[in-house]
Amino acid sequence: MFQISNLRFRYPRAKEDAIRGISFEFREGEIFGFLGPSGAGKSTTQKIMTKILKGFKGQILYRGRDLNAWGREIFNDIGVGFEVPVHFSKLTAMENIDFYKRLYRRTADVESLLKRVGLWDDRNKKVAEFSQGMKIRLNFVRALLNDPKVLFLDEPTNGLDPQNARIIKDMILEFKRSGGTVFLTTHMMHDADELCDRIAFIVNGEIREIDSPKNLKLRFGRRVVEVEYKDGGTKKATFNMDGLGFNEQFLDIIRNKELVTMHSGETTLDDIFIKVTGVKLHE
Ligand SMILES: Nc1ncnc2c1ncn2[C@@H]1O[C@H](COP(=O)(O)OP(=O)(O)OP(=O)(O)O)[C@@H](O)[C@H]1O
Ligand SMILES: [Mg+2]
Repeated sequence: MFQISNLRFRYPRAKEDAIRGISFEFREGEIFGFLGPSGAGKSTTQKIMTKILKGFKGQILYRGRDLNAWGREIFNDIGVGFEVPVHFSKLTAMENIDFYKRLYRRTADVESLLKRVGLWDDRNKKVAEFSQGMKIRLNFVRALLNDPKVLFLDEPTNGLDPQNARIIKDMILEFKRSGGTVFLTTHMMHDADELCDRIAFIVNGEIREIDSPKNLKLRFGRRVVEVEYKDGGTKKATFNMDGLGFNEQFLDIIRNKELVTMHSGETTLDDIFIKVTGVKLHE
């Protein structure tokens, strides 16, 4: 769907490149995650791909055609959820939607979208009176408004309560199931793990890793079993998962001791994020 080669970008007046020669692609029907610490260049990359920022170096192809050769018609294909929701606050939610609807050739079923994100009953309220979470949900509806083929989402669940975040995640999965392609930027490792087919880690304008969550875990994972058991007091032991069935010490514990807990030490995407980026998550 999108092929990015040697992408470089520097903001006007900046001393250094924000994007330092990155290459990646994402395919039709894929949810591609873009992860990295604050300031890594995630939003910048999304803004370049959605033609908001001009003047990049390198090449971007959308459906095999140079992004620079695409005119306004590309906006019928792509849906964009911005990092910071911007709405006309003096207008109602519906008036906002109607305004953007006019820009597109084809539009999605607004009633069902608003109902799905729980905003239908508030559709005639001024956006100025919306809570932050309501603005974020309206922003998501706007991204889907033109019934896009490719959806760009910059932190779509940031600032949402768990229930509303669940609705948005389900809608992203449904979008994929109906054939859509998603470029997803997020700080939520759990969401990335659940939603993404592949993930790229970007640090300081460079891509460090690209792989599926499963492969990342296999590559960075610790294959261990952690056992807590009673032996006088509570004791802990860690065993390598390989050869576990022949490990006498492990077998002795599970045969003869009272077990308290037993976990396989599966590496989470949080651990991998820290390993790959060298940055601790502050959440
Ligand atoms: N409008 C701008 N003008 C100049 N520099 C900018 C501008 N926007 C971003 N930058 C710089 O570009 C780099 C990448 O920023 P970007 O917003 O892409 O990061 P990000 O990965 O989206 O971070 P976050 O997780 O905080 O959203 C940063 O060093 C930032 O300071
Ligand atoms: Mg950002």
